[in-house]
This record gives sequence, structure tokens and C-alpha cells, in this order.
Amino acid sequence: MQEKISNIKALAINDINLAKDLKELFDVKVKYLGKNGSVTELMKGMKDIPKEDRPQFGKIVNDLRVEIENEFNAREVVLKEEERLKTFEKEAIDITLPGKSNEIGSLHPITLVKNELINAFLGLGFEIFEGPEIEEDYYNFKMLNIPEDHPARDMQDTFYFNPNILLRTQTSAGQVRVMLDKKPPIKVLSPGKVYRSDDDASHSPMFHQMEGLVVDKGITLCDLKGTLDEFVKIIFGKDTKTRLRPSYFPFTEPSVEVDVSCSECHGKGCKLCKGTGWIEILGAGIVNKKVLEGCGIDPEVYSGYAFGMGIERIAILKYKIPDIRLFFENDVRFLKQFK
Ligand code: PHE
Repeated sequence: MQEKISNIKALAINDINLAKDLKELFDVKVKYLGKNGSVTELMKGMKDIPKEDRPQFGKIVNDLRVEIENEFNAREVVLKEEERLKTFEKEAIDITLPGKSNEIGSLHPITLVKNELINAFLGLGFEIFEGPEIEEDYYNFKMLNIPEDHPARDMQDTFYFNPNILLRTQTSAGQVRVMLDKKPPIKVLSPGKVYRSDDDASHSPMFHQMEGLVVDKGITLCDLKGTLDEFVKIIFGKDTKTRLRPSYFPFTEPSVEVDVSCSECHGKGCKLCKGTGWIEILGAGIVNKKVLEGCGIDPEVYSGYAFGMGIERIAILKYKIPDIRLFFENDVRFLKQFK
């Protein structure tokens, strides 16, 4: 019997040490200590043992079980640690690999030019006013001396919500809002989106304008010319010249178109300036007395000038862009060029 027990013990210890992983170790445990395991079988032999020897036999088999169990537990600790290390190795992250970087976007060319224009005017002492894009006929037309059947409305057909509410056609609507709200001196710059029923290579149904309005005592066309002279030098370079041509807007009197000397040919005449040496950049004029009066500003005391330019137009000239629609098609190959 003693020999049989030593035998089982030796075999069990051997099997335990050969187990390569926890699963094999568990199988070994079943083989010896399980329901039909050899140690359990030994116990079952109890009934064939003489009664007086049974306690001793029981003790021996039990000791054997405890010894195997201890071996088993020790081996289990070793295998668990091995498995833990293996998992670590398998799941290790190679932090030396270069990461995936997100592409960095850039400001839209219109935003870039808008910011540039704003900066130029802030330097000249203007403050910003932003009016609503959904505007009343009252501010967009009527108060700007464009009554209901005025022909100027034809050139600025827009999108109507109802006969009184529309998408503004010009940032000039903001002039009225500012003058009704504030008493002179006024010196504001009003950038924003405007809308018209237009769509071709040089017109977009939505585009951006930048309005300027200065009202104070003794403002004349000279002040307008002086400010714009400064401004175009900042935007187009210090050799740029300006030229005023007579024009017509219902809300300015007199009205002018402002041209800059062509940045491409410097006045000699080329394709960009259509051979004239000059490029039109904005409309402007002295604020019509009717408009001042309508806004409660006494035209005998105060006068003002206003100007309005298309931001796309400035960007097109600055970057030589052939089609206004490129700005709004969101083709990254186009947009990427302005980083
Ligand atoms: N609002 C005019 C336009 O959209 C431009 C302008 C603004 C003209 C201010 C004169 C004074 O064409």
C-alpha cells in the first residue's frame, strides 16, 4: 500500500510539473483528485480495509491529497504568472510607431480676406456692426431711398419670405440700423452675407459685402477718398492708386465707383483690367440727406460718407481667381491653397 501511495504521489508531482498551462494543470487535478481520480479511487478502497486500520489509512490518503493539492497550488501560481506575462507581451503597444495625425484645416479664403479688410479698417478707427441677414424691406430698401417701384430694386432682386421680409441684398441695410440707434460721430464697418437672384461665373446667389459708414460734422468726399487711399495701400500694396468715377446709388449723393490701379499691369492695360489700367472695387458716396433725415440726423449739422465692397471681388483680384463659384464648391484642392 505504502508503495502504491508513493507511486501515485511521484506520478502526480511529475504530471503537475509537466503541465504547460492552466488548462493542462486542471486536467491533472481531475486525473488525481477528481471524482474518478486515483486518490479518490484509493479512498473508495477504504471498505476493503480492516476496520481497525481504517483511521490510519484515511489519514495517509488524506495526507497524500493535501500534498498533491499543495503541489498543485504552487504550480498554479507559477503558471498564472507565466500566462499574465504572455498576455502583457501579446497586448503590448509599440509606442515607437508614429501616430496618425489629423489633417489641419485652414481658414476659408473669404474669411482670410474679410479678416484682412477688418484689420485694415480697425487700424483706421472703425468699429464693427453686424446686421441681420433676414431683413425688413424697410431697412434694406425703403429707408435707403429705394421706394417700392424704384428701378434700383430690379438690380437687387432677392428671396422674399413675405412682401416685407427678405434676405438682405446689401449690407447698406445696416447703415439705417446704426443711424437709428446711434447719434454721430459714427464710424462703423459692417461685414456680412448678402443675397441676390444671380448665378454665373462672376455672381453668386450668396456673397459677402463690407460696408463702411462715417457720419460726423464736416465729412466730405475728401475724407472718403483719403480713407480709401489708405485702405487700398494696405490691401493691394503701397503703390496702388485710387480713382473716383461718378455713379448713382439712391442712398448716396453724389455717388461714385472707386477703381484701383491694376495690380497686374500697373496701369498699362492688360486682360485683368480689360485694357483700362483700372479695376472697379467698390461703390460709395456721400450719405443722401434724405437718408440722414429719415434716421433723425440733422443734415444741416452732420454729413457722412458710405462705401460698400464685395469681399469675393477683393479676394478674386488678390488671388486671381477665375470663377466666384470656386469659393462655395468646397473643393479642398482649391481651399488648401490659402493656408
Ligand atoms: N450697397 C451698394 C451695392 O450693393 C454699395 C454701396 C454701399 C454704394 C454704400 C454706396 C454706398 O451695390
